[in-house]
Amino acid sequence: MSVQDPTAASPGGASAGRVPPPPAGGVTIAGTGLAVPQKRLTNQDLERLMDTSDEWIVQRTGIRQRHVCDFSRGESTYTIAAAALRNACDDAKIDPATLDLVLVATMSMESTCPPSACRVAAALGTRNAGAFDLSAACCGFVFGLNTAYGLMRSGQYRRVGLVGADTLSRFMDYSNAGRSTAILFGDGAGAAILTATDDPTKGVIAQAMHSDGARFGDLYIPEDERGYPEGVEHDPAMVHRVQMNGQGVFKFAVGTFPDVIAQTLDKAGLAAGDVDMYVCHQSNARILDAARKRFGLAEDRLYVNIDRYANTVAASVPLCLHELRAAGRVRAGHKVMFVGFGGGLTWGTSLWQL
Ligand code: COA
Repeated sequence: MSVQDPTAASPGGASAGRVPPPPAGGVTIAGTGLAVPQKRLTNQDLERLMDTSDEWIVQRTGIRQRHVCDFSRGESTYTIAAAALRNACDDAKIDPATLDLVLVATMSMESTCPPSACRVAAALGTRNAGAFDLSAACCGFVFGLNTAYGLMRSGQYRRVGLVGADTLSRFMDYSNAGRSTAILFGDGAGAAILTATDDPTKGVIAQAMHSDGARFGDLYIPEDERGYPEGVEHDPAMVHRVQMNGQGVFKFAVGTFPDVIAQTLDKAGLAAGDVDMYVCHQSNARILDAARKRFGLAEDRLYVNIDRYANTVAASVPLCLHELRAAGRVRAGHKVMFVGFGGGLTWGTSLWQL
């Protein structure tokens, strides 16, 4: 890393010195990275574990395989999050020790305390940086983009490592009883390095963040008797297992996901075709396809990689982002809309000028 690099934070973070005035500049995505566990679980593997078929899964969801952690070998959310963030730092050509802040969007942190972000920061030698987890289920990375952008525009953070990482395989039942959810989810992590820039045109053009907690019962993971929606009795067999109203979530997503895109375009004064790429949470290929068709977008404008990773919760958006950047399909000058929706229920966007 160059010592003269103007985007570099002072050691220990920009907040360690005097509070600078809010900058006139913007924020840019300087690097991205991903990490998935080595172990793959294909639809054919699932056929051997439960009463399902490759045909059923592909038709209903578009998923062909997913990666899952081998927890017995020490893999977990923070290890893949750290690997993704290290890759993103390499891509941005920065030393991880110069990050001001490490944010990990996840709903599968190792434990209530410490935050996984602190272990990620320690693994990268970023011990003095602020670090915290951001829990917003499948919206985590998108809400994280808006959170990081706001903090950076305050002028007190100039270099932020944002990770989306989840390991929902830990909450799956790979038997017949769990077949309606076990086929859907995979483990993974994706990361982005956000850096302050003098160019004021770079950064968030418009954003939206919404929730409806009254509908949490459509998608939840109970930990004890307090974790159930009204009318559902505590059942030890449900503890630490994803509970999902598949059709309810499907209907919510098919309606709300395109609506929030339309709302964000409206705020920005843009038409759907003005956005170069839509980087959306990967929950189901049919949901993504319906949204793309509603806006009359060509297939290459709304990226889909659910076939290879399944639904990786907070990791799905940065996994897409990294693949698109690596392929040169998302680059400086582009307008990119990030879209999330999922448990909570939550939904939102972050529309960027790169
Ligand atoms: N393999 C084969 N059959 C299965 C199955 C599996 N893995 N899981 C469920 N089935 C069966 C059901 O038991 C049911 O059988 P029945 O008709 O004999 O009762 C049948 O398939 C249809 O089940 P249903 O739940 O109505 O299927 P669906 O068409 O709604 O598809 C989902 C199920 C989960 C794929 C779909 O509802 C979905 O994608 N929902 C959104 C989920 C989501 O995106 N969650 C994350 C949000 S971030």
